[in-house]
Amino acid sequence: MATSTALAHPNIAFIKYWGNRDNALRLPVNGSISMNLDGLFTRTTVSFQPSLPFDELIINGHAVMGKGLTRVSYILDLVREMAGLKINAEVMSENNFPAGAGIASSAAAFAALALASSRAAGLTLSEAQLSRLARRGSGSASRSIPAGFVEWQMGNNEEDSFAFSIAPVDHWNLVDCVAIVNSAHKKTGSTEGHAIAGTSPLQNARVADTPRRLEICRNAILNKDFEAFANIIEHDSDMMHSVMMTSNPPLMYWQSATVEIFHQVREWRASGLPVGYTVDAGANVHVICLGDSAKEVEKRLRDLPGVSNVLVAGAGGAAQVV
Ligand code: PMV
Repeated sequence: MATSTALAHPNIAFIKYWGNRDNALRLPVNGSISMNLDGLFTRTTVSFQPSLPFDELIINGHAVMGKGLTRVSYILDLVREMAGLKINAEVMSENNFPAGAGIASSAAAFAALALASSRAAGLTLSEAQLSRLARRGSGSASRSIPAGFVEWQMGNNEEDSFAFSIAPVDHWNLVDCVAIVNSAHKKTGSTEGHAIAGTSPLQNARVADTPRRLEICRNAILNKDFEAFANIIEHDSDMMHSVMMTSNPPLMYWQSATVEIFHQVREWRASGLPVGYTVDAGANVHVICLGDSAKEVEKRLRDLPGVSNVLVAGAGGAAQVV
């Protein structure tokens, strides 16, 4: 029996990935930039056991079958193929944050799975290989493999579509205050969302403009220019949600509390508080601020109607074996 346990953080995208040029390989139509979230994590143990008649998946103590298990077995199949193994595995995973609510639970999950399963199979993959493997489970998971501030290059093919660090964890003291307005599991997951992104007439324009946004965001991070950073992440998030809302069928992830937070954040920034917002495929708002202001931002968010909780996370490290 070969067992390995790995831990990975979710990440928040500052320049978003939305839409694939190859849905099966999860090759994106555009590059993206994110920050790993410290304190939030998925811990996954994979053990290959010759006695198992099929793969087993247990998430937070509950056995999972159907689509969830199929997605995990797909990654295990890739690992078995690389390692020349023919045995099934038990996968036990736990999260310390709500899953499926726009907090990139699949990113942390598939990053931890890629690392734990490859190690349990006796493979020692490079960071780029791990990032590619995680990408096959969930595109954004490619970005939860490297540490700190991360860019996922779209690449030209399967081999060069992986993520790498553009700055280490301690480069810039950014904090994500995630305002939870709805912790329920979203109705339309990102896999379905990516598949219909191209039905929006706005998607081509969004994709064509991505190199510009990537450059502004990358430079804002490298130069620690908060004003430029806040403006570009809000612009990018609004562009992705415009595509979502205008696709067929339309996807509307925002709740009224989501929009109320946008207005507040912009007012706070205008009055000198360093904050900016970004939203993934859910209603919860990631309010990004400088570390010195995190306490104040958290307090203000908690006072807003419709906000049931606030999760606070700084920049997180790489996926690691524990
Ligand atoms: O990795 P997926 O398939 O869960 O897609 C992630 C999509 C967004 O969270 C909305 C954007 C991103 O880049 O993380």
